[in-house]
Amino acid sequence: MTQLLFISGSLRQDSSSTALLRALEQRIKSVPAVTDVTYADIGALPHYNADRAMNEEIRNLVDAIATADGVVIATPEYNFSIPGVLKNAIDWASRPAYQSVFKGKPVFVLSVSGGALGGVRAQGHLKYILNGMLAEVFPWQEIVVPAAPKKLIEGTFEDQAVLDFATEGLVAFLSRLNS
Ligand SMILES: Cc1cc2nc3c(=O)[nH]c(=O)nc-3n(C[C@H](O)[C@H](O)[C@H](O)COP(=O)(O)O)c2cc1C
Repeated sequence: MTQLLFISGSLRQDSSSTALLRALEQRIKSVPAVTDVTYADIGALPHYNADRAMNEEIRNLVDAIATADGVVIATPEYNFSIPGVLKNAIDWASRPAYQSVFKGKPVFVLSVSGGALGGVRAQGHLKYILNGMLAEVFPWQEIVVPAAPKKLIEGTFEDQAVLDFATEGLVAFLSRLNS
């Protein structure tokens, strides 16, 4: 069974990033290679502090990344980059440098934004950060979701064209994991 860890860069209850991930989870349930999806909880992590020992939440995140065959991150764009809460989680999981659980970890990235560019700037930053940790960022066309909050109906992500495109990429990612 392929194990995927989904990470949303937004903590909002009505987050379009999280709704996008949940919709994709439904889509890939029908993929022949059975996939087990878990979600990281990055909201409870303390601020990164090198003087601080790992607590349970940090350990859970690091273990979840280590155990996953692949990580899927949906990030919103905040001020042209990724949200601090997502960077904080990545920083915790990034130690020791070049030897962390991200080293060699396949990662699939998507981005959302309130504006017209779909978070492409944040997505570029995230991929740059992941590359710096020696993660294996999946090479695919950028999956960007402009005006993302407007694509939710009663909390469910409903843009089928975006979901078709994102599912195609995710299925390719899954088949890479299984090859
Ligand atoms: C602090 C902050 C900064 C933002 N900066 C940008 C930005 O630079 N570009 C943009 O298109 N949208 C920006 N937005 C809008 C968010 O990308 C948009 O609200 C998105 O839906 C948030 O993701 P979520 O729905 O998963 O919570 C910003 C929102 C916040 C709260």
